[in-house]
Amino acid sequence: MNLFDVYPINEITIVKAKGSYVWDDNGEQYLDLYGGHAVISIGHTHPHWVQRIEEQLEKIAFYSNSIRIPLQQQLAEKLGKVSGKPDYQLFLCNSGAEANENALKLASFHNGRKKIVAFSRAFHGRTSLAVSVTDNKNYIAPVNETGNVSFLPFNDEEALEIFFKENGKEISSVIIEGIQGVGGINIADDSFLRKIRSLCDEYGALYIADSVQCGYGRSGKFFSHDFAGVNADIYTMAKGMGNGFPVAGLIIAPHIKPKHFQLGTTFGGNHLACAAALAVLETIEEEILMGNAVMTGKFLKDQLEAIPQLKNVRGRGLMIGFDVPEELKDLKKNLLWNQKIFTGEAKPNVIRLLPSLALKKRDAEQFIDSIKEEIQNLVPA
Ligand SMILES: Cc1ncc(COP(=O)(O)O)c(C=O)c1O
Repeated sequence: MNLFDVYPINEITIVKAKGSYVWDDNGEQYLDLYGGHAVISIGHTHPHWVQRIEEQLEKIAFYSNSIRIPLQQQLAEKLGKVSGKPDYQLFLCNSGAEANENALKLASFHNGRKKIVAFSRAFHGRTSLAVSVTDNKNYIAPVNETGNVSFLPFNDEEALEIFFKENGKEISSVIIEGIQGVGGINIADDSFLRKIRSLCDEYGALYIADSVQCGYGRSGKFFSHDFAGVNADIYTMAKGMGNGFPVAGLIIAPHIKPKHFQLGTTFGGNHLACAAALAVLETIEEEILMGNAVMTGKFLKDQLEAIPQLKNVRGRGLMIGFDVPEELKDLKKNLLWNQKIFTGEAKPNVIRLLPSLALKKRDAEQFIDSIKEEIQNLVPA
């Protein structure tokens, strides 16, 4: 049997990982500034994470949600504390798309409405509703097409206000990434998020903060939406939550009341997933990783801004992007093959940095030296 060929891949086989480094099957070492697509939050194979999972594995890995799983309550308490939202309620699932799917559905159950507002360049996942609020026609199969979703221009307060004036009573939810990831590291303006909050309040719609990529401390705050000083009704999270163990969730504001059977999952919140997620939060706290994201992120951004060939350096914490001009179009590839550094990209010309929140300054320095060398090789001064 062959694999279903949906991914263009780099011909590299990674067999070992530690912190911000990975090694291939020839023993070659790579600096990982991509984190397997923003997933590695506390560092590859972090010892506390490994120990917690191993210990849990010896006890019990899985049982369904038909019994009490105290680890879920421990995780909810820890998450409430670290995120600063202790009065929210946690629902656990398995992936970012599933978290968004549940959030959109829950909003519709809550207010009985159908219309959803999403934004240009948004990415919210590949499942049915999640993909229908994703702004990429190539990902949306005919069966996912729905007249319920309207895409508005990102960061355009006036367009949002007009749309609410005309359709406000029918809008179930507004879904937005605090910092667009796949869309190219575009920061939602604080005032735009505040406008969403006030319009949702005025018209009875729910504000869904997709924090799958920009959340879990990556921006330097637990949720990038926190910069705007507003609370969303629902936050979705995945990627960094398990540091590579598949676990996701949504936290739900106290005014939204649960009803039996409205949401459900077989695997979500299993013992092993909770152990992994607890290890992540304990490490974020213990090693002050949000502080490191602020510090190391600032260092990286300042250094990148000083490189004249790179345009529009942007981002928050350790979620950074910059535009690469046409003459440097091979930069990402050359960083990988010549310098052994993984970075991310966003089409057509953006390089994205999504490293572990524990990235060390000396690794950031190594990256800056390497990128300067590769720019010099591509466009000799
Ligand atoms: C902002 C955002 N939302 C949702 C998703 C979907 O997450 P998953 O691939 O875990 O389903 C992604 C994945 O890249 C994402 O970046």
